[in-house]
Formats: sequence, structure tokens, C-alpha cells
Amino acid sequence: MSNTPIKRLTVPNIVAKKGKEPIVSLTAYTTPVAQLMDEHVDLILVGDSLGMVIYGLDTTLAVTTEMMIAHGQAVMRGSKHACVMVDLPFGSYQESPEQAFRTASRILQETGAAAVKLEGGEEMAETVEFLTKRNIPVCGHVGLMPQAVQMMGGFKVAGKNDAGVQKVIRDSHAIANAGAFAVVLEGVVEPVAETITQQLSIPTIGIGASPACDGQVLVCDDIFGVFQGFKPKFVKRYANVGHTMQDAVKQYAEEVRSRAFPSMEYCFQPKKD
Ligand code: KIV
Repeated sequence: MSNTPIKRLTVPNIVAKKGKEPIVSLTAYTTPVAQLMDEHVDLILVGDSLGMVIYGLDTTLAVTTEMMIAHGQAVMRGSKHACVMVDLPFGSYQESPEQAFRTASRILQETGAAAVKLEGGEEMAETVEFLTKRNIPVCGHVGLMPQAVQMMGGFKVAGKNDAGVQKVIRDSHAIANAGAFAVVLEGVVEPVAETITQQLSIPTIGIGASPACDGQVLVCDDIFGVFQGFKPKFVKRYANVGHTMQDAVKQYAEEVRSRAFPSMEYCFQPKKD
């Protein structure tokens, strides 16, 4: 066995995947889940979806920078191979490029993650440029932007009409031209996501977008079948861990009530002299 330490994928390694084998990305929020997925994925996103998935909130709007840092640290402790990026939460970056710099630099310093992700198109281009010129790698996020849920009146697919198509194209170009290293296309109609992928020189990472994207990302609890809430059309469940957990709890409850658990193998005995 070699003693060479495993080298973590870097932001330039992710960028170099443009047009090649698709980038495999998933969200993670905790150390054990990061450990389970680390060797299989290229990019772990500590998404602000943790507000809904872990904390049971209805939207991501109440997620704080402190929550993102705590979960970013947990994921970094559980991973050695994947490149890790952390979402900037709502209200922590939209006010000004300076506010975004303070939040992003704090997140990178306190977690050790490689990059941040922020939502927004043309209106966030100035901020993306400000951060990237100051050595903060930024991934954009356009199309369906969960932090805009109140303005949109719900989680709406982007690019369903002509104006929507033009907007998502303009947004993705603005973010790429501002220096983002990649852009997440969420809930973007398939042909538009393909066109954007062909047009941009940076990788596109799709979620509810297109197989033509340079990579795919999903929320881990969705693919595990743990999150029991709303299942968007773009989610494929690869397991039903939620049912397995329920079965385990049911069996445990039965065994405690019948005193079948703990049997003697799970008990300590006094030392024999
Ligand atoms: O917060 C998140 O999990 C995300 C993904 C859905 C891309 O932004």
C-alpha cells in the first residue's frame, strides 16, 4: 500500500473537466455522509438546501452563515478526495461585493473549502468579478434560484417562454464573463441548458437541466430516499434509506417493549475472580 496522501481535487481540476467525462457532484452536510460519498464524487456541495433537508425549514431563506460554516467544517472532516464548495446563504452577499467578500472569505478560512457558490445572474456579475479578482473561486447558480422563491412565488422552472430563455442565457453568460469557474443550471428546460453548455467555456453543472451539461448535482438525501418531503421531477431515488431507517426503528421499539433488547450479548458482566 502506498503512503502517498490522497490529493484533493482542486478548482482547476474541476474546470479542466469541461467537455470531458461529466463532473459528479452531490450535496453533503455531515461528516459520515461526506465519508460515504467522497471517493465516488468530484465535487461536494455544502448546499443551503440543508435548511430544508436537515433543519425542516420550508425554504432556504433562514439559513445562516454560521450554519454553513458548521456543516462546511463537518464535510471537510469527512472528505479527502472531493473538491468542496459551500453555498453563501441568503442575505449574506446580496447587499454589496464587500459584504460578499467578507462572508466568502470567512467561509473559506473557517471551513478550508475550496470555493463558494452564490445564486444570481446579471445582477450578481459585479460581485462575482469582485470575489474572483480577490482569489475567491465562485460557482454561479442560475435558472431556478431557491433563494428567490418569494419573488418567483414558488420554485419555478426557467426558460419556459422566450423571455425566460433569453434571461437564463444572459444570466449564465454574465456569471461566466465575471470569472466564475462553473455555473449550476437548476430547473432549466433541456434544450436551453444544452445550448448554454455549448456556449460557455466554463463547466455547467445541471440539476433538472440536461444530460449535455458538463456535470450533474443532486441533493444527497433525495437520492438516498431519506428526505420525505416534496420530490421534484428531476430527482431520481437510488435507494430507499428512509424506509430502512423506519424498519430499524420499528424493530428496535418492538424489541425494547418485549425486552428482547438488550440480550446478554449487549450487556456487561462483572469480572470473574
Ligand atoms: O443548496 C443546494 O443544495 C443547491 C443545489 C440544489 C444545487 O444549491
